[in-house]
Amino acid sequence: MEALLCRKIGDPTVPLSEASPIFISTSYPIPVLDSSTAVRVRVKSTSLNYANYLQIVGKYQEKPPLPFIPGSDYSGVVEAVGNEVSKLKIGDRVCSFAALGSFAEYIVADEKELFLVPDGCDLVAAGALLVAFGTSHVALVHRAGLSSGQVLLVLGAAGGVGLSAVQIGKVCGATVIAVARGAEKVQFLKSLGIDHVVDISKGNIFGSVKEFLKARKLKGVDVLYDPVGGNLTKESLKLLNWGANILVIGFASGEVPVIPANIALVKNWTIHGLYWGSYKIHQPGLLKDSVKELLSWLAKGLISINVFHTYGLSEGTQMFRGTICGR
Ligand SMILES: NC(=O)c1ccc[n+]([C@@H]2O[C@H](COP(=O)([O-])OP(=O)(O)OC[C@H]3O[C@@H](n4cnc5c(N)ncnc54)[C@H](OP(=O)(O)O)[C@@H]3O)[C@@H](O)[C@H]2O)c1
Repeated sequence: MEALLCRKIGDPTVPLSEASPIFISTSYPIPVLDSSTAVRVRVKSTSLNYANYLQIVGKYQEKPPLPFIPGSDYSGVVEAVGNEVSKLKIGDRVCSFAALGSFAEYIVADEKELFLVPDGCDLVAAGALLVAFGTSHVALVHRAGLSSGQVLLVLGAAGGVGLSAVQIGKVCGATVIAVARGAEKVQFLKSLGIDHVVDISKGNIFGSVKEFLKARKLKGVDVLYDPVGGNLTKESLKLLNWGANILVIGFASGEVPVIPANIALVKNWTIHGLYWGSYKIHQPGLLKDSVKELLSWLAKGLISINVFHTYGLSEGTQMFRGTICGR
């Protein structure tokens, strides 16, 4: 089968050659069913998440032995089933999330890890649902308990997880403030019906958000969703209400922020560190319910996946260049 492999740690955006960290194999062995409840899926689509890139450059928290096939969330069609598989059959449309291995033509998973993609859901869209929307759903709904009427501030709102957070915020009935860089991204976010969008390439976040809150007779921000970190976090803390929830999602700016414990104490803030992938081990039931709810929202059109570009596996370096460097 065709698969994209990482053979050494390095920059996946450099053109393919004998020396590049990633390469395309056209004769990689098709994975075998490794248990009676295993299912082999012919991958239809898989998404490129920031973590996939971090893994290849060696900066992710989990460091797999080399060589490895990167890739986490995916969708596809069931192609073979073990003899004790009871809930799935050949031809079913499914989606899932793996620690590794979805940048390939086939992947094997246990049937309990696979979700049926409901009628009405685009299979390509379902391949980009789990990591981004799953993270934001667990963070906003289960951890912060975001409710109607609350104010949600989303940093990095034009990125993968940010874009999912603003949509989930609207489904929950929150007033959503999005932060992005550049007119095009701001325009796009406005087209989604976000209540207020701040373009930080034009100035700082504080003045713009304060003005919006005043106009809406709102006091401050109840939930901060932060996949960016750095100075942006520091500025955002000045906007938080008493009792606010802070969701620490990631550090796309490259800087891990400091949240002063003395201010957290005085303002009764709750700071949540969230690593979505670890729910698979620690709270698999919650993760399952969360994904099922997201699939039903996708089928009803309450959320939508914004696919900016699609690539074939053989376009590996263009894919990394277009998404990671193209931002
Ligand atoms: N905790 C978890 O379980 C979990 C799950 C998924 C992702 N994450 C983490 O979340 C982060 C974002 O992931 P992603 O997939 O959404 O990445 P992404 O699609 O690349 O989005 C990152 C966003 O951050 C913005 N950004 C980067 N540097 C910035 C800066 N200095 N100032 C302001 N904005 C900045 C980018 O803005 P522009 O669009 O203007 O470039 C972009 O919109 C990563 O650190 C990732 O590892 C964590």
